[in-house]
Amino acid sequence: MRRLLITGGAGFIGSNFVHYVLENTDDHVTVLDSLTYAANLASLEGLPAGRFRFVEGDICDATLVDGLFDTHDAVVHYAAESHNDNSLVGPAPFVQTNLVGTFTLLEAARRTGIRYHHISTDEVYGDLEFDDPARFTESTPYNPSSPYSSTKAGSDLLVRAWVRSFGVRATISNCSNNYGPRQHVEKFIPRQITNVIDGVRPRLYGDGLNVRDWIHADDHSSAVLRILDAGRIGETYLIGADGEKTNREVVELILQHAGLAPDAYDLVTDRPGHDKRYAIDWSKLRDELGWEPRYRDFGAGIESTIDWYRENEQWWRPQKAATEQKYAAAGQ
Ligand code: NAD
Ligand code: DAU
Repeated sequence: MRRLLITGGAGFIGSNFVHYVLENTDDHVTVLDSLTYAANLASLEGLPAGRFRFVEGDICDATLVDGLFDTHDAVVHYAAESHNDNSLVGPAPFVQTNLVGTFTLLEAARRTGIRYHHISTDEVYGDLEFDDPARFTESTPYNPSSPYSSTKAGSDLLVRAWVRSFGVRATISNCSNNYGPRQHVEKFIPRQITNVIDGVRPRLYGDGLNVRDWIHADDHSSAVLRILDAGRIGETYLIGADGEKTNREVVELILQHAGLAPDAYDLVTDRPGHDKRYAIDWSKLRDELGWEPRYRDFGAGIESTIDWYRENEQWWRPQKAATEQKYAAAGQ
């Protein structure tokens, strides 16, 4: 039994990890989350009270963080400002949470010596050409494009330096695009699913041909737990599931599931600096730690995600109108 501190556990992937850990281990979990617009406490309902505790607070609050590090065995750091579009409009909270927040946690890890796992993204590597046979590996040079991805890249570099200079017992994982239940409606897949539920045509940026490499959030969680249990200190592991799709292909699946024409979408203003393509080579994780993804059928994964949004309207409805107002202001 471990005492795990999970930052950002009221967000999409962090809450998935909390459920995954409580269902698959006998660990005790504390979530530290400041409840930004992206959090949803409903994502943490129904968890076993004896093994789960929620603490509302900011990862930049060193006093609070120090106290929590003193009473836990390991930390898994998910908390972040996570949306590229927001980072293009207002980068300040990205610098604060993603860089200063990570620095605050690393200083506490340095002082206490507890195990630290850092959650990051494939976006730190920039993007690939559409016809490039290469995929990102752990040795691809960093080349981030947006304020979001540059602050995530900076946070990864802080972790590497704290490992080398101070002996912090850390690992890093860089994962591709996640989908699944409890993702905020600002993100691509939930936005289009809930648009279709509302009778609104999906919105594709630019020509809709950008490629993302999709992985189910449950597979991300199983990979992180495997790295926490068996990963080598100081190492980086890429997490992916061979899920490359153009944005058009994803929207076509959502439309098809609703019985609508596959081209019943609109092309709208492109995202500035929009990364073309991401693709992950996750062979190190497979060969070294024996991890494999379970969700191999993207169509089936999207169908169950659509069903979840249909059945859980009370979870997302309160955020939908304000999110769409923000997009409308940007012509998207
Ligand atoms: P999210 O936006 O859904 O959730 C982020 C959570 O962090 C929220 O609950 C928010 O309240 C909390 N938070 C933000 N600032 C905080 C602060 N200063 N102190 C405490 N809590 C704070 O994000 P997500 O999509 O679940 O992403 C989680 C992590 O996974 C991030 O580090 C992100 O970079 C990484 N990641 C995401 C994806 C993806 O596809 N969404 C892919 C790879 C990596
Ligand atoms: O690759 C991992 C990253 O994936 C994570 O680090 C980020 O936290 C996460 O938000 C995600 O970043 P993206 O920018 O790829 O995700 P987003 O859901 O914003 O967009 C996915 C693709 O869909 C991207 O090519 C932009 C496009 N898009 C997005 C929206 C919201 C549209 O075409 N229309 C839309 O309405």
